Amino acid sequence: MSAFVYDIPTKVYFGENQLEHLGKELAVYGSRVLICYGGGSIKKNGLFDRVTAEIKKAGLTWFELSGIEPNPRVASVNQGAQICKKEGIDVILAVGGGSVIDCAKFTAAAAFYDGDAWDIMTMKYQPTKALPILDISTLSATGSDMDAGGVISNPDTKDKIGFSIPGVLQPKVSFLDPTLTYSVSEYQTACGSADILSHVIESYFVPQNGSMYMLDKVKEGLMKTVIKYAPVALEEPNNYEARANLQWAASWAINGFTGVLQNCAWSCHPMEHELSAIYDITHGLGLAILTPRWMKYILDETTVERFYEYGVNVFGVDASLPQMEAAEKSIEMTKDFLYGTLGLKSTFGEIGIDDTNFSIMAKKACQGAVLPGFKPLKQEDIEKIFAMCL
Ligand code: NZQ
Ligand code: ZN
Repeated sequence: MSAFVYDIPTKVYFGENQLEHLGKELAVYGSRVLICYGGGSIKKNGLFDRVTAEIKKAGLTWFELSGIEPNPRVASVNQGAQICKKEGIDVILAVGGGSVIDCAKFTAAAAFYDGDAWDIMTMKYQPTKALPILDISTLSATGSDMDAGGVISNPDTKDKIGFSIPGVLQPKVSFLDPTLTYSVSEYQTACGSADILSHVIESYFVPQNGSMYMLDKVKEGLMKTVIKYAPVALEEPNNYEARANLQWAASWAINGFTGVLQNCAWSCHPMEHELSAIYDITHGLGLAILTPRWMKYILDETTVERFYEYGVNVFGVDASLPQMEAAEKSIEMTKDFLYGTLGLKSTFGEIGIDDTNFSIMAKKACQGAVLPGFKPLKQEDIEKIFAMCL
């Protein structure tokens, strides 16, 4: 087993009524705050008023970057960076889902750069510092509230690029109040749940020595949490227990804890990012369509054991079944969960994607070489997986 470093320096306020700590936490970093938010959900549900009331109470001044899109665009990052420079912003507060938090992270870094923020995504400029980032996370999905990564899209080049910069983009403080996720739509709740599940799957399906027993049990627990509570949240959007379990699972699925020994790249995420780069689809939906096809494509004698463990320990598949039969059943149960229980669409055809861009998307997903995941994939493999999704 390899050695590892565990370092997750985000302070989390979890639960109801924690926003009363917002003012004092922001004040640690300065007095001029840039509030970043999306298309208006926080105005509709009253959160914007609560946030600005806390900021006022603490005697701080705020500015706004609004209209951040799902699959956030680099134009929003550039706009945010401009405000930071012009207004002398001290600290950034993201209020929203993963898109808002991701945009806020790269805005915080771009504030120290004079060129186009896209240079950060292409690594022409590699930031070593950023303004301090705090967030109020309103959607259980990406876990951006506790990781140092983000994903930004460029509609001109049809690229969607994401990576982490540990020590630079990690939020200082995150506020996770499950009641703020009550207003998330059924569709976004389902997509977010598929995303959480995928994050765990990406770190569960690893070659030998890429995990350990203790971590496997945590990962199985996280997956079972999504499978148990996503349907409850869909049925009863205001169920605190369900929303709280999903929210904390979302953070822990990606915050670095379960992935400390990860010895291979993620597979479905690079493929999905190419889909949302071109078709602007919801990230979790793309993952839901891809994941069972990827599973089916890579299932063979060399990977069957992992699928067997997954089926037996996560979905309760009969352990006495032959390994391959149990493995196949586990993929069927994954499909049932995503398309039946969560009600997500199951094919590209249903969401208007045909094979026109398969070749270019596959080439980009493996960066013209090999996607070095659980089972390494070449361009032709990825094209076949895309074809299975039609
Ligand atoms: O924009 P507003 O009006 O706020 O509405 C949003 C948006 O339309 C809405 N929403 C969010 N919270 C709500 C709410 N509606 C009602 N009540 C609330 N409490 O939901 C819609 C989707 O929001 P978005 O932020 O786009 O969703 P999500 O959190 O799933 O973020 C997706 C983005 O994150 C990236 C994805 O690729 C995608 O760009 N990812 C980021 C990761 C990371 N930082 O580590 C990892 C992920 O794998 C992922 O790639
Ligand atoms: Zn994801």
